[in-house]
Amino acid sequence: ISAASMVVVSNRLPFILKRNEQTGQLERKASAGGLVTAVAPVVIKGKGIWVGWPGIHLDDPNEPIPESDPKDRTPTAGLLSKQVVPVHCDRHVFDQYYNGCCNGTFWPLFHSMPDRAEFSADNWRAYVKVNQEFARKTMEALEKVKEENPSATPTIWIHDYQLMICANWVRQAAEEAGIRCKMGFFLHIPFPPWDIFRLFPWSDEILQGMLGCDMVGFHIEDYCLNFVDCCQRRLGCRVDRKNLLVEHGGRSVRVRPLPIGIPFERFVQLAESANRVMLTNQQIVLGVDRLDYTKGLVHRLKAFERLLQKYPQHIEKVTMLQIAVPSRTDVREYQELKEEMDQLVGRINGCFTTPNWSPIRYIYGCVSQDELAAFYRDAAVALVTPLRDGMNLVAKEFVACQINTPPGVLIVSPFAGAGEMMHEALVCNPYEIDDAAEVIHRALTMPEDERTLRMNYLRRREKVHDVNYWMRSFLKAMGTLITEDGEET
Ligand code: UDP
Ligand code: G6P
Repeated sequence: ISAASMVVVSNRLPFILKRNEQTGQLERKASAGGLVTAVAPVVIKGKGIWVGWPGIHLDDPNEPIPESDPKDRTPTAGLLSKQVVPVHCDRHVFDQYYNGCCNGTFWPLFHSMPDRAEFSADNWRAYVKVNQEFARKTMEALEKVKEENPSATPTIWIHDYQLMICANWVRQAAEEAGIRCKMGFFLHIPFPPWDIFRLFPWSDEILQGMLGCDMVGFHIEDYCLNFVDCCQRRLGCRVDRKNLLVEHGGRSVRVRPLPIGIPFERFVQLAESANRVMLTNQQIVLGVDRLDYTKGLVHRLKAFERLLQKYPQHIEKVTMLQIAVPSRTDVREYQELKEEMDQLVGRINGCFTTPNWSPIRYIYGCVSQDELAAFYRDAAVALVTPLRDGMNLVAKEFVACQINTPPGVLIVSPFAGAGEMMHEALVCNPYEIDDAAEVIHRALTMPEDERTLRMNYLRRREKVHDVNYWMRSFLKAMGTLITEDGEET
């Protein structure tokens, strides 16, 4: 896949910078998400630039970005330092933007949990300021790629809820500089319905910001329709629901469902080479999530507890393995969830533990991709039961790693984007604890041939609709995909 002169803009750069305590030098620490795997090669190949926050506040913002370590084999290894534009902000303003507005307001609101959202004019001002700074840096990047390749029409691709109002400043500055470019936005989380979205006091500015792009992408059609609806009701835009178009400021903005996929083959390879998980003679019920209240972790533990109460035959035979990755630990809601989980795990384990067995293994930490692949491969059941989730990649990674015969069973919530399309999974409403316990029991006792049939369909779909397919669909929707023979489509 290739696209000339792409400028990717995301809150986080595809790696973080850390200072080596001994040498005092900055070093890159790779991150391995699906987005990075798909997008980094296109940026590298098309001589593009990535704009984002390096994960560290530097005293000297002009301190140069180091080149990658020669031993680095991750997808960003080939990204030269001149292809990275770091965004630096005042620590306090960044805190109000990231912890306050992004994760204290937009995250809960867009996941339809308005009671958890706080509305603060100060935080909103910080959000505006940081988005402005991102726009300024994006313009810098745009000028650089234009200099490198004057004949190409650059594509600017802005990501996620942290940067919803960045586009118009870039558009204006590009027009003033006489640089023609195409701009796209992709939201990785749900877009809420109008009666939730309207609670945000500055909702008009969000919509205008997103409409600054030529194309706006979401995971599924429901989110597209919510967005179109909000544009019509809040801004009075003329809209075409059938063709997903919004008229705004004399332009027609395309809205598209573009469900993200995973690097399927990479996960298959990891599963093929990973060591065995040491939980002998146990059926593993697996959960893998950031420790986030949208993931339904409390409901999930209660459903597992109910399973043990209702079906004691699983005692000493089944272990729940929950990996909870620390996340946004400066935000109060996340701190409270950590407390609640610690207590609940303690209580359930206290109730059911026998001399030879504990029902729940709870890992509060990050595990490596190899270890993760082993867990995915050796689990009998994966519980992907968020209360709300834009897509959920864990569901997809689990099926990619199910290379053992007979395979395990995926249980998915209908409130995740993944639940919309992974039709052969067992569906479970996480709010209904009794029913969730029944579904886990059904999964643990499902006949082999049914498991095989379901898993084959699930794997086939994810293999075809992998992250490269997503990348290609985005570029096609933007009209900037370069085909093998060098033409733009
Ligand atoms: N993940 C990881 N290490 C862990 C746990 C999770 O790298 O210890 C990755 C996982 O492989 C997946 C991502 O984190 O790619 C989680 O993505 P998802 O869409 O499920 O949820 P999000 O965290 O984006 O809300
Ligand atoms: C979700 C969001 C991403 C975000 C990630 C991790 O996947 O859609 O934009 O980067 O969570 O959260 P963090 O706050 O650590 O970046």
